[in-house]
Amino acid sequence: MVDISTRLLKKRLKNPTILTSGILGISSSTLLRVANSGAGAVTTKSIGPRRREGHKNPVVVETPCGLLNAIGLSCPPLGESIEELKDLVKKSRVPVIASIYGRNVEEFVEVAEKISRVKPDFLELNVSCPNIEGKPFGVNAEISARITEMVKDSTDISVIVKLTPNVSDIAEIAKAVEGAGADAISAINSCSGMAINIETSRPILANKFGGLSGPAIKPIAVRCVYEIYEDVDIPIIGIGGIQSGRDAIEMMMAGASAVGIGTAVMNHGIEIFTRICSEIEKFM
Ligand code: SIN
Repeated sequence: MVDISTRLLKKRLKNPTILTSGILGISSSTLLRVANSGAGAVTTKSIGPRRREGHKNPVVVETPCGLLNAIGLSCPPLGESIEELKDLVKKSRVPVIASIYGRNVEEFVEVAEKISRVKPDFLELNVSCPNIEGKPFGVNAEISARITEMVKDSTDISVIVKLTPNVSDIAEIAKAVEGAGADAISAINSCSGMAINIETSRPILANKFGGLSGPAIKPIAVRCVYEIYEDVDIPIIGIGGIQSGRDAIEMMMAGASAVGIGTAVMNHGIEIFTRICSEIEKFM
């Protein structure tokens, strides 16, 4: 049998597939099911400093080539998220990535400090959600670097920064966060998009705009990972439209050390992790 294990910084992953943030919430029992179903690591939905409702329905639209979502970073109160994370970290046999967000640098630091006490394997800074008011921090190299630097100063857990493709030069942002101490990068978050119901002549999503994920964005993700890989020395988790072992290999050829699987879980269920791994083994 082919050994497809990999390393992400100091952690060994039994295979390079990682459940991406946001797909299956923060419930420990759900994430443990994924961890036990063959994923190499799991990422929580982004955890914020306080309860957040998110956007009104509809928050998801299926398109012929991917999913458009505008959940709006909904999350329970921080104490509740921490309890779920604590249980997950205790029981998971694969590394746990805690995704976090804040509305400003101070909130990022507050969440990072509190979350770090339950010792997830990695923190992922979500500076790239397209479904917030205004532009995400991740479109600005200086602000992304400042958040990274402040969080790094507040924790001894390895920090991954998740980047947005909705910029003109993603490598510039990657270099800035690497310079600020980021240990790894995940790329990409979803691509900003819109769908209109032509019967009502209204946008379908209550938030008007949403983030497109799934097969449509894979070539964008591969290009972004390639550009980042050329400019930084830290590991990259490649995310965007991966549905098969061949897609995963393509992403790793672009420069990713591991790959995030998100929309494919919604389309194919949690069995997707073992299927992608056996396709990688076959290719190898
Ligand atoms: C959302 O909650 O709207 C999506 C999260 C993300 O894309 O980062």
